[in-house]
Amino acid sequence: MQTKQIAILFSGNGSNLEALVRALHNKCFCAKGDFVVQSGFCVGGIAKNFVESKSDNAFRVEVVLALSNKKDAYGLTRARNLGIKTQVLESATYKDREEFDKNLVEILTPLKLDLCVLAGFMRILTPVFTDSIKAVNIHPSLLPLFKGAHGIQESFASPMKLGGVSVHWVSEELDGGEIIAQGVIAKMAGESLESYEERIHKLEHSLYPLAVLQALANQTTTILR
Ligand code: GRF
Repeated sequence: MQTKQIAILFSGNGSNLEALVRALHNKCFCAKGDFVVQSGFCVGGIAKNFVESKSDNAFRVEVVLALSNKKDAYGLTRARNLGIKTQVLESATYKDREEFDKNLVEILTPLKLDLCVLAGFMRILTPVFTDSIKAVNIHPSLLPLFKGAHGIQESFASPMKLGGVSVHWVSEELDGGEIIAQGVIAKMAGESLESYEERIHKLEHSLYPLAVLQALANQTTTILR
């Protein structure tokens, strides 16, 4: 059976990293049937359901590395507890972005990844990275709205009645690559920012593993970078 190798890059809490590892690591999947909208939120961009399967056309997902650019990121503890190999490449010690990205690429290239998964990796990436590593990212808003570091707060404060999350291919434009999948939730009257944020994160944890499976399964067919 084919194994698809992924690395997860993060900077802090690592809740998406944990959700991805729990949903995907060392599990085998195959596409079965068309995607059915799940209760509680609406999803766009996911075409197929993925079920755990050991059949001939299934593939196994392996998280080969969890890498943080911050040595005190809590995600490191989460990854170790889940038995995932960790590495720190401290961005604070680099004076320019290209130099950091060059070292990052040097770590990732020998791993022969099928996909690099950014999960709260708070870096603006240069072409040194984006030209050589195929990567996806999750952003806590309905892109192209509310790009940048304050997506949740800005979407919460906006007059929109809906909020959501987006998974997209990584390009050199911040939060600007082609969208793979989006999940949508309705805002609730009188809801606090904390509650909205919690619902957004819950949605991320459901959507991201599905979008990663979709990206891995479609690599040679419809989704091309
Ligand atoms: C998530 O909201 C993600 O969308 C954004 O950064 C946050 C990371 O959270 N890019 P966590 O570290 O996965 O808990």
